[in-house]
Amino acid sequence: PEIARLIQALPKAELHLHIEGSFEPELMFAIAKRNRITLSYDSVEALKEAYQFNNLQEFLDLYYQGMNVLQTRQDYYDLTRAYLDKVHSQNVRHVEIFWDPQGHLERGIDFATQIDGILQALKEARAQHGISYRLIMSFLRHLPEESAFETLELAKPYLDEIYGVGLDSSEMGHPPEKFQGVFAACRDLGLRITAHAGEEGPADYVWQALDLLQVDRVDHGNRSLEDDTLIERLKESQMVLTVCPLSNLKLQVVKDLNDHPIPAMLQAGLKATINSDDPAYFGGYMNENLMQLQQAVGLSADDIITLTRNSIEGSWAEEARKKELL
Ligand code: HPA
Ligand code: ZN
Repeated sequence: PEIARLIQALPKAELHLHIEGSFEPELMFAIAKRNRITLSYDSVEALKEAYQFNNLQEFLDLYYQGMNVLQTRQDYYDLTRAYLDKVHSQNVRHVEIFWDPQGHLERGIDFATQIDGILQALKEARAQHGISYRLIMSFLRHLPEESAFETLELAKPYLDEIYGVGLDSSEMGHPPEKFQGVFAACRDLGLRITAHAGEEGPADYVWQALDLLQVDRVDHGNRSLEDDTLIERLKESQMVLTVCPLSNLKLQVVKDLNDHPIPAMLQAGLKATINSDDPAYFGGYMNENLMQLQQAVGLSADDIITLTRNSIEGSWAEEARKKELL
């Protein structure tokens, strides 16, 4: 249909993507085999069947298990390259990808092994597919702030290659205020700031991300809609929200895609964008997120254009690059 052609044809940017969450079961099994690691599931099918989650934590438990098979620079390269080839086929032209260095450091994988493999794939895809990128280092919020500070020290030789920092993992009980110090240090280093907030956590965590971390954008932000004063603040500042419809459905942040808050966000004048979060776990990349959301809530062609423009305008790409894509 026409709307599917529009979704495919529009130049798009993805702003909320965990590279470890793009780890497709087929590739996971292949890498496990070459690293002589035994997975707790005996087939790709058995693993896929396990992808049923009641909440964020149930997903995270599998997500951290899955990334355990990553060991060599080649593994990080293959993972990243597979994602970039996939989104290239969907006409995604700019990507801002998260990775979770602490999830690998705690297993003994060097910072350099991780980032070198990821960057090699990003640079090749830029040369071969014309995909521009920003790399975002994300801190695990279930760990102490001290661990984030240690990770920031390891990142210092790579600050030319790391554009921003984020905050992810288990939200409840780990409010942004826990990381005020390390984000202040990141800002002093000239890094852009984002944080997951209001996915499962309350609107107050979004306030904290804005006022205490001084984020440049908010990842998810769904529960902002529970607070009218917050809606006004987000609207007035045109704060970018990186919303992830299929993630919200699979993690039961929404009961049904028909109940998704994107129409309400657009109605309220918020700068919402559509993203895939962890596409291998949630069943869809950028275009599937746009298409399934469109089908569920009845977005117009203009809504789709607004959402994709918001991503480009709200990205951290250079201004000249944004102009090229708009
Ligand atoms: N929320 C929090 N942490 C995450 C997510 C998410 O959606 N994906 C990967 N880590
Ligand atoms: Zn996320």
